[in-house]
Amino acid sequence: IPVDDFDLVIFGGTGDLARRKILPGLFRRFCAGQMPADARIIGAARSEMDSDGFRTLVRDAIIEFGGDDLSSRRELPDFLLQLHYVTTDARGDGGWKELAAQMRSGVVRAFYLSVGPGLFADIAERLTSFGLADAASRIVVEKPFGRDLETARALNHDLAKHFDESQIYRIDHYLGKETVQNLMAVRFGNILFEPLWNSQYIDHIQITVAETVGVGGRGGYYDKSGAMRDMVQNHLMQLLCLIAMEPPSKFDPDAVRDEKLKVIRALDDVETHHIVRGQYSAHGDMKSYRQDVENERSFTESFIALKLQLSNWRWAGTPFYLRTGKRMKARSSEITVVFKDPPHSIFGDEGGQHHNELSIQLQPNEGMTLDVTIKEPGPGGMRLVDVPLDMTFADALGPEADDVPDAYERLIMDVIRGNQTLFMRGDEVEAAWSWTDPLIEKWQARSDVPKPYDIGSNGPEDALMLMHRDGRRWRDIK
Ligand code: BG6
Repeated sequence: IPVDDFDLVIFGGTGDLARRKILPGLFRRFCAGQMPADARIIGAARSEMDSDGFRTLVRDAIIEFGGDDLSSRRELPDFLLQLHYVTTDARGDGGWKELAAQMRSGVVRAFYLSVGPGLFADIAERLTSFGLADAASRIVVEKPFGRDLETARALNHDLAKHFDESQIYRIDHYLGKETVQNLMAVRFGNILFEPLWNSQYIDHIQITVAETVGVGGRGGYYDKSGAMRDMVQNHLMQLLCLIAMEPPSKFDPDAVRDEKLKVIRALDDVETHHIVRGQYSAHGDMKSYRQDVENERSFTESFIALKLQLSNWRWAGTPFYLRTGKRMKARSSEITVVFKDPPHSIFGDEGGQHHNELSIQLQPNEGMTLDVTIKEPGPGGMRLVDVPLDMTFADALGPEADDVPDAYERLIMDVIRGNQTLFMRGDEVEAAWSWTDPLIEKWQARSDVPKPYDIGSNGPEDALMLMHRDGRRWRDIK
């Protein structure tokens, strides 16, 4: 179903994110018939270029980043005709009148700021002073949304001068991932799980986001951020919120975001020995973290593991273990809910200790596994064994499951539809920084040195110990 007719201006339209994700994503939506025939996508950036130059750049980006299937689609020339370009100076007056002249009235106007946060205020101001934005326009901003509470507050303040909160779409692309939304469907669409979804029945919850990539060409940014700011404050925090929140009264932007906010506010301070920071070491031809960021004295973490507690009625006593890192063993994002052992085993010692585990795989293969205990087949008596009830969405749902939109495409279409459910509200972002800041300050104050870990491993030994000490273990990263 096509969305309403729109004009979408992408600031930073020639940049990396636009070329890798936003523009190929929009082309995929075009192929899926979701983009109205008159909709306009207007690239705005500093580079001197005309619309034809931009079309060539976008075509090349689709060929480079869109995969064979996408770049060979015969719809490509028609899609390119919907693209326009205006050379625009975010900090000066150049190009703004031309940009305004490109925009139509009576259609949804959306402005995607795919630029560093240092430009948000300048662009927001010019959008209103040059009359591009009105009360119905939408503004989309990318992460990083600040680097601490103070800078996030300043950004919220700058945006609020020109836009109402209902017009601001703060992207966390993890919320656009199919399985992340499935978390809500699984929790609140089934009667099976919710009665057990509390500290009485759940021993602990693990969230792992492991990556095999290093910091790539983003060393300058990354070394000032580290895994805590780059991944935990936003993506892992959002996953934690969805897994731990109370059922919202409806699937409505503020109802959902109110519940997520309560989770962040219920987070306890984290004890020092419940935080493990790591840095990957060199291996063969592969450079160490410090070589990658060209800073031999860097104390920034490329890995972090944390043990968290939520002080609320539902979760008191159930720890949450989070870990994320670069250059790990495999690319794998998974949430595992480990249920408690049955209170009494009628099978005695022979049965052994068994419990249920629900594992939700976000990527690369989206699906769910529920480990259940059954009798080991054969004549050997009542011996128990855990077997997975396994559901890979692609197998269960057929080819349609393969055709799900990528996170960015889905989120951009939500912007056009005016649905903020999968975007972060200003107070949520500030609450997440309020929790993150003191932890970072504490480790900086004691000059904490990250633990080395091997490329291709599960992270530093201490991260394994974080769970072993509690008699628990991380689920294998496969
Ligand atoms: C980004 C981080 O927000 O998310 C990157 O800045 C990280 O460092 C990326 O690699 C991971 O996203 P995905 O979708 O590949 O899991």
